Amino acid sequence: MEAKERIVVALDVATIEKAKELAIQLHPYVGAFKIGLELITSEGGPEVIRHIDDVCGRYYFAGKWEGNPSQIFYDGKFNDIPNTVAGAARAVTRLGVKMFNIHCLGGVEMMSAAKKAAEEEASLRKTPRPLILGVTLLTSLDYQALEELDVAPGWYDRSLKEEMIQRMVRGLALAAQKVGLDGVIASPQEIKLLRQWCQPEFLIVTPGIRPLWAAAGDQKRIDTPSAAIKAGADYLVIGRPITQPPKEIGGPIEAVKKIIEEIEVVV
Ligand code: C5P
Repeated sequence: MEAKERIVVALDVATIEKAKELAIQLHPYVGAFKIGLELITSEGGPEVIRHIDDVCGRYYFAGKWEGNPSQIFYDGKFNDIPNTVAGAARAVTRLGVKMFNIHCLGGVEMMSAAKKAAEEEASLRKTPRPLILGVTLLTSLDYQALEELDVAPGWYDRSLKEEMIQRMVRGLALAAQKVGLDGVIASPQEIKLLRQWCQPEFLIVTPGIRPLWAAAGDQKRIDTPSAAIKAGADYLVIGRPITQPPKEIGGPIEAVKKIIEEIEVVV
């Protein structure tokens, strides 16, 4: 995979207008755009996708997709009973996205139902099935958060607490792999372990990426683009370092070019 293919820009904005502005500048330099809950809730998923597809030279004509492949990562994080998630997977497949995600905590039956539904819909429409990625344990849920929910004992010592979180991530990732999901979302700190636990072709998609020149912001467990790729990440989800780069770097295009240069050294 080329360096630019590995970059997924997080369009964390509230309007189609702002999302389009970024997509117009960046689409020749990146593999995908992640659209998330804020944008799809305020503007409507299909509408957002239509506009971004348009920018990326992709359109639906006479019952099939034409032009360039999709550049949309639909970050809907589906989590519900199997029948409902299967319906959502069918719907998002119909929209022709490149990838979407579901929560592994929805269970094995739910993940299987999503995969089956996406496969059926894709074959019905003769389009490629979107990649399906599992969200293991949200990185915002540390051990303390599980304790607050009273689902984890408070008397474990620190190493046992770390071990338990790791076991959860491992179990969820292996279950996702077993049911045939294409990969998982993982923080930079989890990449090396996931590479040991999972098959080489199982995809790892990593947010929390900060080039040395970018501000960390609210991200705590961060790593640089080159370090994450070296550790075994396939795709990098990058938001603010590209969409709001420091002044001395320039604008989004200069930022993404710098990141491509950094990744090219290690791929
Ligand atoms: O701006 P920044 O590079 O921090 O954006 C990272 C993107 O990845 C955001 O859309 C954020 O919601 C998402 N994300 C994350 N950490 C996770 C899962 C998703 O930062 N564990």
